[in-house]
Amino acid sequence: MRVGAVIVAAGRGRRLGAEGPKQFVDLGGEPLLAWSVRAFAGHPDIERVVVTLPAEWAETPPKWLPDGVSVHAGGVARADSVRIGVGALAGEVEVVLVHDGARPFASAGLISRVVEAGRRGPAIPVIGLDDTVKRIDDRGRVIETVPREDLRRVQTPQGFPAKVLAQTHALADAAAWGKHDAAGMTDDAMLCERLGIDVSTVEGDHSNLKITTPRDLSIARWMVESGLIPSR
Ligand code: C5P
Repeated sequence: MRVGAVIVAAGRGRRLGAEGPKQFVDLGGEPLLAWSVRAFAGHPDIERVVVTLPAEWAETPPKWLPDGVSVHAGGVARADSVRIGVGALAGEVEVVLVHDGARPFASAGLISRVVEAGRRGPAIPVIGLDDTVKRIDDRGRVIETVPREDLRRVQTPQGFPAKVLAQTHALADAAAWGKHDAAGMTDDAMLCERLGIDVSTVEGDHSNLKITTPRDLSIARWMVESGLIPSR
């Protein structure tokens, strides 16, 4: 089965407070996105890599992107960018991994686990919670403690049989979910859940950090400088 990756990096990343989009900030002497893309472009299981970028960047793709990576302008919401990327791979692969460009440290082992499970059906990497978790009301008062044994934090890449992913997006479009709450579609498995399609989990990775705030970026830089993340 051929496997492709869609790396969505068309967001503005305003929470980082950087001047340009966060996917281009410096991380160990390279743009953050270069790390994310290389993890997939250099993985033996991945045959095709598609990256979605903000329209003005997609017009003249950055020269540092590895050869063979195709670039497309993303959409208004993350789910739109995913749909565009998945469309670009149509007919070329049987399995698609969708990854946030804002996660530069997806390890080869993590990608392999998702590919393996994604061949059989939708699969997502998860990690357990160490903190106690409580539900609060709109005034910040505690309502209850939520048993953390049943909860997981979810990462990308998420893996899907290509047909299933295309179908979920087509059905979401038909139901006009995208129009109402594309912004609330924070991952791709959500569409499967809504449609009653089983989603399995594989072990995630604590190093697979998502860069959202300046604090995340400082941690990521420290991880590179301290050698915690091997240079690729
Ligand atoms: O905003 P957030 O950090 O949750 O976005 C997750 C990923 O989705 C980022 O890599 C971002 O660039 C991407 N994205 C996108 N198109 C959008 C919005 C977000 O590709 N319209």
